[in-house]
Amino acid sequence: MTILLLGSGGREHAFAWKMIQSPLCEKLFVAPGNAGTAAIATNVAMSPTDFDAIKTFVIQENVKMVVVGPEDPLVKGIYDYFKNDESLQHIPVIGPSKLGAQLEGSKEFAKEFLIKHNIPTAAYDSFTAETVENGCAFLETLQPPYVLKADGLAAGKGVLIIQDLEEAKTELRNMLVHEKFGAASSKVVIEEFLDGIELSCFVLTDGKSYKILPTAKDYKRIGEGDTGLNTGGMGAVSPVPYVDAVLMEKIETRIVKPTIEGFQKDGIEYKGFVFIGLINVKNEPIVIEYNVRMGDPETEVVVPRLKSDLVELFQAVADQKLDTFELEVDSRSATTIMVVSGGYPEDFEKGKVITGLENITDSIVFHAGTKLDGDNVVSNGGRVLTVTSYGDDFQQAIKKSYQNIDKLNFDKMYFRKDIGFDLL
Ligand code: AMP
Ligand code: GLY
Repeated sequence: MTILLLGSGGREHAFAWKMIQSPLCEKLFVAPGNAGTAAIATNVAMSPTDFDAIKTFVIQENVKMVVVGPEDPLVKGIYDYFKNDESLQHIPVIGPSKLGAQLEGSKEFAKEFLIKHNIPTAAYDSFTAETVENGCAFLETLQPPYVLKADGLAAGKGVLIIQDLEEAKTELRNMLVHEKFGAASSKVVIEEFLDGIELSCFVLTDGKSYKILPTAKDYKRIGEGDTGLNTGGMGAVSPVPYVDAVLMEKIETRIVKPTIEGFQKDGIEYKGFVFIGLINVKNEPIVIEYNVRMGDPETEVVVPRLKSDLVELFQAVADQKLDTFELEVDSRSATTIMVVSGGYPEDFEKGKVITGLENITDSIVFHAGTKLDGDNVVSNGGRVLTVTSYGDDFQQAIKKSYQNIDKLNFDKMYFRKDIGFDLL
């Protein structure tokens, strides 16, 4: 069949790499894709949120499945767009409905869902410009640090963790009254701070049943030792060594099951990934966020560990037959190290020629922000490439990735040299 994959990052290159290994995938288009996807599939210059252009393309190319990488098209309702269009409704979209995507699109919606279905989460309240003074009063009742979250999508930047009460009040006013994050912060969730270790649980659901995918941990800060500004993610490890069967059982019974049952009870159509961000507080898993897509760079370690056919898996989601699907997982560890443009996550330059890609051995390079410029692969974003390796344990895998990164070069290239440091 012909498949259209939406997105352009490392996550999408990893999906594409896995999907083209399936005998079911006869032709793969990626919109808009990057230099990595161009080498293994056909890139289409089309925005993932231009639904009318996607419709024309899907009909013209006889596309039989649409796989959505990033959250934007999901929050904007691509699932419903297909469902409500007579010429498109037979084509499965892998991703939740617009209502389901609110779990990521609105922090308040997510908190209400969690509370309603008795899923453990941090205590919270939410405020608008009209109730900003109540928000300041609420802050006074909490212990520092203070957690402020812009309600809407803010490209991963909308969460502030602040030690000082007065500074927290100022930032709350900045968000609500001065639109620090634009419309995304016209509502703000203030949350109890949870002190523990973060991990992510990835679930694929067809709306009736679900499969839990391998666990992964990412490294969000730009600097070594988890310091400096937040980024989209600087590396990832799968599995997470400290997640044992007891913790996994708690995650499944207290969080995953009630989440999927919650979709059914609330009439939320959901055929896609649920990415559950957790903090493990003294061995009690507590939800800090939902995302309605796979993580990036977590996908670049989770997908390489799937032995099952990914297109078959997506078809089982579309057909609501996940309950009979046998998910096979590679027992090896996988790690990925992100190579970024100097200056990221603040200002950085693009268009730098990347050399050494042909010298990589025993690792997989997934492209994130790259494009072709004549015969050259050049940087085209903050996160540029990510180098994934397998190993008997994560240390072995990490070593291979670093050996291969040494063969790569572009002007002002940067990467963290301590991925996995906290797992030793
Ligand atoms: P989020 O966008 O909700 O994932 O938040 C971004 C980051 O803020 C998370 O990865 C955590 O490191 C941190 N965070 C979010 N909520 C909390 C919380 N309630 N307590 C402690 N840290 C949090
Ligand atoms: N790596 C975190 C995310 O994709 O949101």
